Parts: sequence; C-alpha cells; structure tokens
Amino acid sequence: MRKSILSLVGCALLATGAVTAEMKHSMHDESMHAKHAAKMHGNIEREDRRELVLYPLPVYESTLANMREHLRGIHNVQKLVGEGLYAEAADAADRAMGMGHNHGAHGSAAEHQFMPAGMMALGSAMHSSAADLAVALREAEVTDDLQAVFAAMGKVTENCVACHDAYRLQPME
Ligand code: HEC
Repeated sequence: MRKSILSLVGCALLATGAVTAEMKHSMHDESMHAKHAAKMHGNIEREDRRELVLYPLPVYESTLANMREHLRGIHNVQKLVGEGLYAEAADAADRAMGMGHNHGAHGSAAEHQFMPAGMMALGSAMHSSAADLAVALREAEVTDDLQAVFAAMGKVTENCVACHDAYRLQPME
C-alpha cells in the first residue's frame, strides 16, 4: 500500500516535471519567436508591440528627417555642455527640439492630424521639456548647476524613449 502511494507520488512528480519541461520548452519557443520578430524591427529585447501609425509619404519622410534633427540637437547639447558652452547649448536645444521648432514644409500641422492622442501628448511633452532644458542651461551660465542640466536633459530623452517604445511609423500606400 505504502509502496503504491509512493509510486503514485513518484508518477505525479514525474508528470509535473514533464509538464514543466514542456512549458519551459514552449515558453522558450515563444520568446525565441518574439526575439526574432523584435529583431526584424530593430528591438532585440522583446516583441514589437508598438502601435503602428500611418503617415502620407511626404509627412513620413519629413518626420524622420525631423527626428534626425532631434538626435543632432541632443548630441550638440551634450557636446557643448562638455565644452562649457551653456548658452550655445541652450540655443541648440531650442533650435532642434524647442516649442518653436518647425517640423518643415510638411510639418507639425500635417503630422498632428495623423497622430494618436497619446503620441501628440508625448510630442508636446518633449518640446516643452526641451524648453525647460534651455532654461536650465541658461541658468547654468550663472550657477554652474550641472546636475540640474542633466536632470532636464533626462526629462527630454525620457519622452524620446517613451514615444519610440509606444509607436512606429509607416508611409501610407
Ligand atoms: C511623439 C513621439 C516621438 C518623440 C517625442 C520622439 N520621437 Fe523619434 N521617432 C518617433 C517615431 C514614431 C519614429 C519612427 C520609428 C519606427 O517607425 O520604427 C521615430 C524615429 C526616430 C529616429 C529615426 C530617424 C530615421 O531616419 O529613421 C531618430 C534618430 C529619432 N526618432 C530620434 C528622436 C530623438 C533624439 C527624440 C527626442 C529628443 C525623439 N526622436 C523624440 C517618434 C518620436
């Protein structure tokens, strides 16, 4: 009796083991698949769950050109801060990312009608945090408060990252 209970328990354990192994196997497959799918979209960490946003081709192209300006903007800010040129860095932030930054001939107004509300909110948060960064940089001329500058820079890039994590673009046919 005792023996058969033991073997029953043994069987149950074996069965659980097999199920766990099976689960692990399929989870593994799934994550490999997700990784593969993600890699195709340039994100090697996880499955691509970003919302797809469709733009007409000229708007799509000007948006990406504009994005490259944003990256150049952050780059210039970092470079100029490294050289101690805070006022110039403030100008660079305003020019490339600030509220007055014009998205070109097919610019903001054209983009806005195709943007989901969440994307629009992240866009304006990015522009206003860039304006705050410019203020922190102009203050650093007097205070030399680099911690405030980097905190403000982090708020700008936080919006870049949040939007890139949430949305992707494709030109309409
Ligand atoms: C409101 C949303 C949003 C914000 C804010 C944003 N981006 Fe983007 N960006 C996008 C989307 C969407 C794409 C297209 C991604 C895709 O389709 O895979 C993109 C693409 C890019 C690209 C690729 C350009 C190309 O030629 O392919 C760069 C570089 C970039 N962004 C830089 C930045 C930087 C730097 C910031 C912040 C200073 C920023 N972006 C802020 C939405 C945003």
